[in-house]
Amino acid sequence: MLGNFKYSNPTTLYFGENALDYLKEELSNYGKNIMLVYGGGSIKKNGIYDDVVAILKDSGKNIFEDAGVMPNPTVEKLYEGCKIAKDNNIDLILSVGGGSCCDYSKAVSVSAYAEDDPWEKYFARMEEVDNKIIPVGCILTMAGTGSEMNGGSVITNPETKQKIGHVFGENVFPKFSILNPTYTYSLPKYQMVAGFFDIMSHILEQYFSDSDDNTSDYIMEGLLRSLIHSSRIAVDNPTDYDARSNIMWTATWALNTLVAKGKTTDWMVHMIGQSIGAYTDATHGMTLAAVSMSYYRLIMPHGLEKFKRYAINVWDINPEGKSDEQIANEGLDAMEAYMNELGLVMDAKVLGVTDKMLDGIADGTFISSGGYKTLTHEDIVNILKESMK
Ligand code: NZQ
Ligand code: ZN
Repeated sequence: MLGNFKYSNPTTLYFGENALDYLKEELSNYGKNIMLVYGGGSIKKNGIYDDVVAILKDSGKNIFEDAGVMPNPTVEKLYEGCKIAKDNNIDLILSVGGGSCCDYSKAVSVSAYAEDDPWEKYFARMEEVDNKIIPVGCILTMAGTGSEMNGGSVITNPETKQKIGHVFGENVFPKFSILNPTYTYSLPKYQMVAGFFDIMSHILEQYFSDSDDNTSDYIMEGLLRSLIHSSRIAVDNPTDYDARSNIMWTATWALNTLVAKGKTTDWMVHMIGQSIGAYTDATHGMTLAAVSMSYYRLIMPHGLEKFKRYAINVWDINPEGKSDEQIANEGLDAMEAYMNELGLVMDAKVLGVTDKMLDGIADGTFISSGGYKTLTHEDIVNILKESMK
C-alpha cells in the first residue's frame, strides 16, 4: 500500500554536456561571496576547476576556496569549513566534486551558524536544523551517492569511530545541481565501479522492504535493469556517453526520495558499510559490496517472495520447474557474478577489516527494522566473517 505522503523535491537539475552553461544564471540568484568546495585536486587535472572559476569571475563573484575535502569527510574538516563560511559571510556554497564534497557542503551549510557543537547537534543527536542555512549548489563529478538531489550528509568522526549520516529536510537539499556525464569520464575504475554499486545498493535497500506490490517496486526494477545494462558497457568503454549519462541519471533517481514512497526501507547494508568506513576509511561503495552478498543470503528466507521477484524481473531467471528458494538463490548468484564482473571488492579483509574490529564494527552499526529481518549483534559479526572467508 502506498499510504499517504507528500512528495516534492526542490533541487533544480541541469543535465547534459552543456549543463555548466546554466551556472551563470543560477549564480545571479545569490550574493557575491561564494565558497568553492572541492576535494583532492581531480577537478584541477580534468579542467573543471578552470571552467567553474572562469564563470565565477565573469559573474563578478568573490571566491573563497575550501579545498581538500577527503572521501568520507571528517568532523575536523567540517569545523574548518564552518570557520571559512562564517568569517567570509558566504552567500552560496558551491560544491564541485563527488558525494563527499556535496555532503560536506550540506554539513557546513547547516553548521556554520549552529550555536551548539555541530557534530553533537546534527550528527550525534540528529536534531532538526533551527539556525541559518547557507544555500548549496552542486557540480557533480561522480555518479553514486545521489547527494546532488537529496538532504543526506555523512560525516566521519575518526576519534569516536563513528560515521553518521543525517538526512536533512528539503531546505538543505542543493538548490541546483549541474550534472554533466562527461565529467565522470576521468574517474579511476575503482571509484567508478564503487559508485555503480552504491547506486545498486541504494535501490536494493528500498526494494527489499515490505511485501507490497507498489509502483515504487516497478520503478526500481527499471532503474536496476538500466544500471546493470549501462554499467557493463561503461566498464568496457568508460567514455560511452549513453552509458555514463544513463548511470548518472539512475544514480539521482535511486536516492532522491521518489522510490522510497510507500516503502519502509531497510538500509542495513549501509549501516554496516558505514561502520566499516568509520574503522577503515574505505571507499563507500566497496564497503557495501563487501557485505551485500552475505547480508542478502542471510535475510533471503525472510523475504522469499521479493527475492523471487527480484530474480525473475531483474536478473531474468527462468522460474520454470524450480522452487521459490531455487529461483531466489539463482537471482543472488547472478548478482554475485555481476559484482565479480565489475571488479568490486567483496572481501572486507581487503578493505582493512581485521578480526579484532568485528565487535566494534557491530557495536557501531545502527540497527534499523525496516527490512525483512532485524539483525542482532551476532548476525552482523557473522555477515562480516562470511565476507572475510
Ligand atoms: O577528491 P578528488 O580529487 O575530487 O577525488 C575524488 C575522490 O578521491 C575522486 N573523484 C571524484 N570525481 C572524480 C574523481 N576523480 C577523477 N575524476 C572525477 N571526475 O573520487 C574519489 C571519491 O570521491 P567521493 O566524493 O568520496 O565519492 P562518492 O561520490 O562515492 O561519495 C562518498 C561519500 O558520500 C557518502 C558516503 O558515505 C561517502 O562519505 N554518501 C552520501 C549519501 C547521500 N548524501 O545521500 C548516501 C550514500 O549512501 C553515501 O553514504
Ligand atoms: Zn550509499
